[in-house]
Amino acid sequence: MSERDEKNPQEESSATTTTTWPDIEEELIIPEVLHSEGVKKLHMSIQSEWDYLQKSACQTAAGRALWKHVIHDPLAHLFAGETHLRNLHTKIKNDLLNNAREVSGVILAVRTLWFDTRIQAALDSFQTDATTQVVLLGAGMDARSYRLNCLNKSDVFEVDFADVLEAKTSLVQAAVKSSDELRMKAKSLVRVAIDIRDSDWFDKLKKSGFLPEINTVWVLEGILYYLSHTEAMQVLNLIADKCALTSTVLLADFMNKPSATLPNSVFHFYSDWPDQLLPSLGFSQVSLSQIGDPDANFGLLHDPLNLFNKLLRLPRSAQIHPDDGTPCCRLYLVEAFGSPPQILP
Ligand SMILES: C[S@@+](CC[C@H](N)C(=O)[O-])C[C@H]1O[C@@H](n2cnc3c(N)ncnc32)[C@H](O)[C@@H]1O
Repeated sequence: MSERDEKNPQEESSATTTTTWPDIEEELIIPEVLHSEGVKKLHMSIQSEWDYLQKSACQTAAGRALWKHVIHDPLAHLFAGETHLRNLHTKIKNDLLNNAREVSGVILAVRTLWFDTRIQAALDSFQTDATTQVVLLGAGMDARSYRLNCLNKSDVFEVDFADVLEAKTSLVQAAVKSSDELRMKAKSLVRVAIDIRDSDWFDKLKKSGFLPEINTVWVLEGILYYLSHTEAMQVLNLIADKCALTSTVLLADFMNKPSATLPNSVFHFYSDWPDQLLPSLGFSQVSLSQIGDPDANFGLLHDPLNLFNKLLRLPRSAQIHPDDGTPCCRLYLVEAFGSPPQILP
């Protein structure tokens, strides 16, 4: 069901390799640094003072920490904290014991690997040795600046709430103190405390050193659906407008309506057809993948009867599964390009 026309050979091979779980009992590692007084105190305040939105940053890190057999993230355990690590570990253990078709955290693992792959491809697409920019909106506990070599010519901007970024900086300092192995892979990294619901968020980003005329990759991973429809559209429109100034790649995940409107949902914005929405805003070459597609699989979803593979066999317009009446919850992984208008001679 992928709408990407061309597959690169790496993507094809990742789809055919099956990844199996190592011994799950050995997967729960609580690194020594999490026991240090300062870090323990910091994580206790995260647990007691942060709201669900901010805590989602640590939950995501826990996913990367426990899927470490496929994601190599040197900071994920420290960023996640013991509570989130133990919670997810228990869920994964139960899933494996029950031979579940989908193991908890698999969406996060696939999403992370898809964004990693597409960030690298986006940077390659600029075909330049000049400095590029990568903006992580709602960066949370993303550690790409410390784990992706392809960022070595990029100025990275991590945008999130002040509390999240302050905690992140303290945790990185603790990691540096406890080990000399942590290395920055990005050319530079700036953390920018911004609420992207504010109308002046782009001005604040510029004040922190972001240059609108430099080739830019925008990474909107796990963020859009926390915004209202109006807020999400403002963010997307603003990024689309900036494409007039430079080559731009937008990478974003979108929930469809059934995903965002489940009972007790904390999500708001959704789009059933982001591949139609983004061209209407001015983006071109929009390609859409779903979890389980050949380029969004990474050998982690081999059971043809798992939820994701079953959904791939249904038309995207289906909102209710015809077999069991359950909502067709989909996560779309979308890549879109933008560039200044060509001036014809
Ligand atoms: C699910 S986490 C995803 C974090 C990261 N992108 C990742 O994939 O690991 C969502 C992040 O978005 C941040 N966030 C949510 N709403 C935001 C807003 N209005 N402005 C800035 N950051 C926001 C949260 O604080 C949180 O860190």
